[in-house]
Amino acid sequence: MLRCFDPSVDGRELDREPFKFRHQLMGHPALELDNLAKAIPSLPAEYVKYSKGLMRNGEDFENCNILHPSQMSLAETIECMRTSDSYVMVRSPQIHESFQPVFRDLSGDVEHLLRQMFGQRERLLIKPQLYLFIASPGSHTPFHIDRNSTMLLQFRGSKQVVLFPRWEPQVVTDEAREAYAAYDNTKLPWSDARDAFGQRFDFAPGEGLHIPFIAGHYVQNGHDDVSISMSIIFNTPESQAQLEALQFNHKVRGLGWRPAPVGHSAGRDQFKSFLWRARRKVRHTLNLPPDN
Ligand SMILES: [Fe+2]
Repeated sequence: MLRCFDPSVDGRELDREPFKFRHQLMGHPALELDNLAKAIPSLPAEYVKYSKGLMRNGEDFENCNILHPSQMSLAETIECMRTSDSYVMVRSPQIHESFQPVFRDLSGDVEHLLRQMFGQRERLLIKPQLYLFIASPGSHTPFHIDRNSTMLLQFRGSKQVVLFPRWEPQVVTDEAREAYAAYDNTKLPWSDARDAFGQRFDFAPGEGLHIPFIAGHYVQNGHDDVSISMSIIFNTPESQAQLEALQFNHKVRGLGWRPAPVGHSAGRDQFKSFLWRARRKVRHTLNLPPDN
């Protein structure tokens, strides 16, 4: 039984295609502005990234707080969100007690969906984590990919998310995707020609969007209001294997190999993931520092 997502959400569609759904968390006390204004500044600084200035596709989203540092304090940024062209991203707000119930419920819902896809298995839900986004009207999240699957929920303001096919090399080359997965290069090249591959989703408070693992996307917030959204991100046994296979490919490319791309054969991806984990274990046993 789902507590947060609409009961019509079908877990067997996760990481296949993006889809919209309705969520049941509107009016949740954790997401009210007065709670956000209290909870966010109390989190450790490394959990909160905020930046000022509109961003464009082609910029390095993962380092936006370094490229566009804000001169304002976090409290001022939140206060002036309507007019300040700012962006606040909070990692793991569930470490604040006001977010713990909603984190538990969302994790339970995702686990329920994963059982529909994988059946009863141990460790289906891997590294679930909440992210909170507060953005000024009209702000833009540049084109990027994530190393996980996402259920993104809108609470205030509107936005358009443009989503791209996961393994299309004309959108993100195999090499760039692998380097991104390995944390080696997080700046993705962009050209407007890529837009032809995009699927546009308009969404508003009460609605949610599933972003499949590693699918490229960018977000344009509406000009009408401050946007507040929250996502639960996670990996599944399948996406975890694909992530490790991407990291494997990145490593062997550096050795001059030309590996087969990830995402076309589950067996091949699992084998690469197995090799990657074995390598990590050996490095750990030999007391060598971890590397990607
Ligand atoms: Fe994202």
